[in-house]
Amino acid sequence: MERKIPKNFFIGAAMSGPQTEGAWKTGGRLESIWDTWSQERISDFYNKVGSYVGNNFYEKYEEDIRLMKSLGLDSFRTSMQWSRLMDQNEKMNPEGAEFYHKVIRCAEEEKIELFMNLYHFDMPTYLFKKGGWENREVVEAYVNYARTAFREFGKEIRYWFTFNEPIVEPDQRYRNGFWYPFLKDAKRGMQVQYHISLAHALAVREFRKAKEEGLMREDAKIGLINCFAPPYTKENPTPEDLEALRMEDGINNRWWLDLVAEGHLPEDVLKTLSECGLMPETRPGDEEVLKEGIVDWLGFNYYHPSRIQAPAEKTDENGYPKFSDPYVWPEAKMNVWRGWEIYPKGIYDFGMKMKNEYPNLKFFVSENGMGVEHEDRFRNEAGEIQDDYRIEFVSEHLDWIFKSIEDGAQCLGYHYWGLIDNWSWNNAFKNRYGMVEVDLMGNYQRKLKKSAGWIKQLIAEREKN
Ligand code: BG6
Repeated sequence: MERKIPKNFFIGAAMSGPQTEGAWKTGGRLESIWDTWSQERISDFYNKVGSYVGNNFYEKYEEDIRLMKSLGLDSFRTSMQWSRLMDQNEKMNPEGAEFYHKVIRCAEEEKIELFMNLYHFDMPTYLFKKGGWENREVVEAYVNYARTAFREFGKEIRYWFTFNEPIVEPDQRYRNGFWYPFLKDAKRGMQVQYHISLAHALAVREFRKAKEEGLMREDAKIGLINCFAPPYTKENPTPEDLEALRMEDGINNRWWLDLVAEGHLPEDVLKTLSECGLMPETRPGDEEVLKEGIVDWLGFNYYHPSRIQAPAEKTDENGYPKFSDPYVWPEAKMNVWRGWEIYPKGIYDFGMKMKNEYPNLKFFVSENGMGVEHEDRFRNEAGEIQDDYRIEFVSEHLDWIFKSIEDGAQCLGYHYWGLIDNWSWNNAFKNRYGMVEVDLMGNYQRKLKKSAGWIKQLIAEREKN
C-alpha cells in the first residue's frame, strides 16, 4: 500500500451514547427527547425503529471495545447520556455512573483511548418540557451535568468534548422543522444556537476549575466537535452569491470557530442578525462568559460540503430573512442512499482554512463515514458484505487529509463514524455506516464487513513503517 500515514496520527472510531447503548429504561435512565418522539410518533422512524434500540452497546461494550482493539484502532469516541448520568433532581444517578466507569475501565484495559463527549442531541425530556435550549435554566442544568461528569470521571478520562455538532439542533429542530418539535422559526433557532454557545463556554469554565482544583488528569483536554461543512458557491458568483456564502459560513462555521479559538462570536454575523431582527436575546455578562469558550483542540466532522447560492426569495414563509438557497453542482458525485455529496477535497479545504485563519488550533477529523442502504445486496458467498464503496470513500478522504498535513494543516487523527452499525436518529438503521455489521434479527450479533479487514491492514502496515 502506498498510502503513508503520518507518524503519531491516531486512527479510531466514533459513535454516541444515544445511538448505541439501548437499555433506555435500565438503571434509572430518564426519558430523553428521542424516546418521547419515538413514543409519540413512531411512524416518523424508518421501519418504526425508535430510540430504545441502539446497537446494544450497554450489554456488548466489552466485546465492542475488544473488537476495536483487534482491528488495531487506538481510540474511540462516544458520549455519556445526560439522561443516564443524572436524575430528575439534577443529582448523579449512581447506576448510570457505574456503567460509564465500567466502559472506561474496559477501554483502559484494552489500551483504547476513550474520548468522551457530553451531549449528542439528547436532552432529557423533563428539561425539554421546561423550554429546552430556549431556557437559561436548562443551560444551568447542563452546566451542572458537565460539572458532575468532570468531577466524577476527571481522573479517568483525558479527552473531553462539550458538544457534538451544536449547529444541528438549532437547524433540525427549530429552523428546518425536520426533528421534533418540528419548528420553522429562525428567531427561536438563533436563540437556541446562542444559548448552546453559552452552555459550551460555561462547561469549559467548569472544566478549567475542576482542573485547577486537581480533580482532573493533568493532561486532560477539552474540545468541541462540529460538522464544519466547507461552503462553496457557483463558479462565477454574483455579489449576492458571495453574501450568501458569508452568512452560511458565518452561522455554521465561523460562529463556532471564533468562539472556540478566540472566545467571541463573529461581529459581522451579529451585525447582520441585528439588522434583520434575528439577534438573540443577550444578558449583561454574556460576553465575559463567551471569552471562556476557548478550547484546547477541535473535532471536525466531515461528510459533505455545503453548496449554496443567493436566495431566490428574500424571506421565508414566516417572513424571516433567507440567507441562501441550495446550489446543485452539476458535477457532484452523490451518495445516493443518504443524499449527500461525496467531495473528499472538502476535508483538505477545511485543513487549509484552519491553517490560514485559526493557526493556533489543532484539530482531528472526528467523524467521516458512508451510510448505505440495503447492504445485504453486497454479501458474498461466505456471507461477508463487500463494501468496496466504503473503502474507496475512506481512502479518498484519508489521502486528502494526508495532503493537508503535508501542506501545513495541524490535523492529529481520524475517527471513522459508526464503526459498528448504529441507530441513526429517525433514519434508524436505514443507512448502515459500519465496518462491522449488526444483525438486528440475530441478537445484535457483530460481523466484520470487508472494510474492517481493510482498515486493520492499513493500520498494521503503518506499524511496520
Ligand atoms: C453526524 C452525527 O451528523 O452524522 C451522527 O454526529 C450521525 O450522530 C452521523 O449519525 C450520520 O448521519 P445520519 O443522519 O445518516 O445518521
